Amino acid sequence: QEVHAAEMERTFIAIKPDGVQRGLISEIVSRFERKGFKLVAIKLVVPSKEFAQKHYHDLKERPFFSGLCDFLSSGPVLAMVWEGEGVIKYGRKLIGATDPAKSEPGTIRGDLAVVVGRNIIHGSDGPETAKDEIALWFTPKELVSYTSNEEKWVY
Ligand code: TYD
Repeated sequence: QEVHAAEMERTFIAIKPDGVQRGLISEIVSRFERKGFKLVAIKLVVPSKEFAQKHYHDLKERPFFSGLCDFLSSGPVLAMVWEGEGVIKYGRKLIGATDPAKSEPGTIRGDLAVVVGRNIIHGSDGPETAKDEIALWFTPKELVSYTSNEEKWVY
């Protein structure tokens, strides 16, 4: 079955500073790769506090907002865009619940994190946020369209 990249859903996934510092990049990237999703953008960035506030603008009324933005801007973040059928919803499934104590074993947070303030990974929670977050973190030129040899065996 022919599936064109242009029709494919995309989501924004980021490994937060704790995940990068703990050496979990390859472990996390590998889970998305092995599932059959396609990496279309990736970069390591240290976001400013202002940038972190933009990223988490929906949470600005929450008591943990300032600490959360300090944390996100405290070191390198691995920003990525992943593509695939149902990748937004399934990406959240791979990640697990917000609080790692409530994340199922087998999920990224369930297997690799302990507390909510250090839950190692971010993933867009819906189509609108995915679109906004991809646009915030990446320029259109940084999104790479290509055909992988594997996709005819995934779809
Ligand atoms: P949220 O968007 O609710 O969760 P998710 O990352 O699963 O989409 O919250 C964003 C981040 O804020 C979350 O990953 C960790 C942090 N956070 C706290 O530190 N304390 C809290 O009580 C909550 C709900 C979130």
